[in-house]
Amino acid sequence: MHSAPASRDANLAFGPGKDAGANSPNHPKAQTMWPDRRLLELFRTEFPIVLAPMAGVMDADLAIAAAQGGALGSLPCAMLSVEKAREQVNIIRQRVSAPVNMNFFCHKPVDAEPKREAGWKARLAAYYRELGLDPAAPFNAANRAPFDAAMCGLIEELKPEVVSFHFGLPEPALVKRIKAAGSLVISSATIVREAIWLEENGADVIIAQGAEAGGHRGMFLTENIAEQPGTFALVPQVVDAVKVPVIAAGGIADGRGIAAAFALGAAGVQIGTAYLRCPESRVIAPARSALARARDDSTVITNVMTGRPARGVANRVMREIGPISTDAPAFPHAATALGPLKAAAEQLGRVDFTNLWAGQAVRLGREMPAAELTRALAGAALARLGQMAG
Ligand SMILES: Cc1cc2nc3c(=O)[nH]c(=O)nc-3n(C[C@H](O)[C@H](O)[C@H](O)COP(=O)(O)O)c2cc1C
Repeated sequence: MHSAPASRDANLAFGPGKDAGANSPNHPKAQTMWPDRRLLELFRTEFPIVLAPMAGVMDADLAIAAAQGGALGSLPCAMLSVEKAREQVNIIRQRVSAPVNMNFFCHKPVDAEPKREAGWKARLAAYYRELGLDPAAPFNAANRAPFDAAMCGLIEELKPEVVSFHFGLPEPALVKRIKAAGSLVISSATIVREAIWLEENGADVIIAQGAEAGGHRGMFLTENIAEQPGTFALVPQVVDAVKVPVIAAGGIADGRGIAAAFALGAAGVQIGTAYLRCPESRVIAPARSALARARDDSTVITNVMTGRPARGVANRVMREIGPISTDAPAFPHAATALGPLKAAAEQLGRVDFTNLWAGQAVRLGREMPAAELTRALAGAALARLGQMAG
């Protein structure tokens, strides 16, 4: 089952030779070696690894590949219509017999403020001129609608094993309907207070998302990004505060990180950035190059791309207007006026206006098929945990 690793990095892949050793995830003994098995039982996956849902840069293909490797495959639905989400889940179910996680945003929607939008457009006017674009031309805003009754209907129809949320949880009546459909409900916390709130409001599992994480902060009871603890500080404090299993997220990209998460009390990990350069992702070529060049200090937290703070590799607009700007309209409206700039620059092979969401461990990422990467991550983590146990 296990194919030869593409990387010689002992922290990511198995050592030389075949996977006959007890540290191989395919070795029967290895199946008992995870220090916490609650997630394996809840999710019924081979490994306690969740492929992070990553809206805009992945679809069914990456979820399928990660699931084939033994992880929980996640489908980001935040930018999909009901029809598209249904189609994608059907594709996953046709190609792999594994549990699936459907992921949604559940921010409180705010209407676009015309005055603020106009100010933001004025701020971007020089870029429009540079790219020969007409700022007055109408453009379609990308859909980033919060989870609603229609999507809940789709959950009831498809009954995914897991439904995960970013930015809190939907209203209690919807949470109740999801649970009645038999799906587990999970969501991200960036501080202990949010973790306690999630548990009290029905989360079956909590993702502790540290400041290192790529993408949007899942924060919903605070807006202060300066206060967000790192994964190392957050995970044990969340573990102490709640009874449900905790998944560590943020900056975890190899066996060392996964083993550390377990040492901190996590029952599993959610990994995003490390999967971005897999061939099954939808990351465009110039963004792949930017990710491949990125180093430990290449990412920043910015609000200029969407209006909500998110971590990504710094690009031109983040550097020149941000990374934090009080002019950026509220989420997700900041992204609207950036849309035409993004499209025009990408035509020229540039990522000046593209969300290059990635976490602080981006440099540890490898270009390798996602199934292989998943097995390599699990194998390296088991090897590291075995060493730590002496
Ligand atoms: C490119 C990218 C897109 C993301 N999009 C989403 C999303 O749609 N929904 C979500 O819940 N989390 C999203 N996240 C956050 C992840 O769930 C997770 O917290 C993060 O990837 C963990 O940190 P890491 O990137 O260092 O592994 C995204 C992360 C990245 C890197």
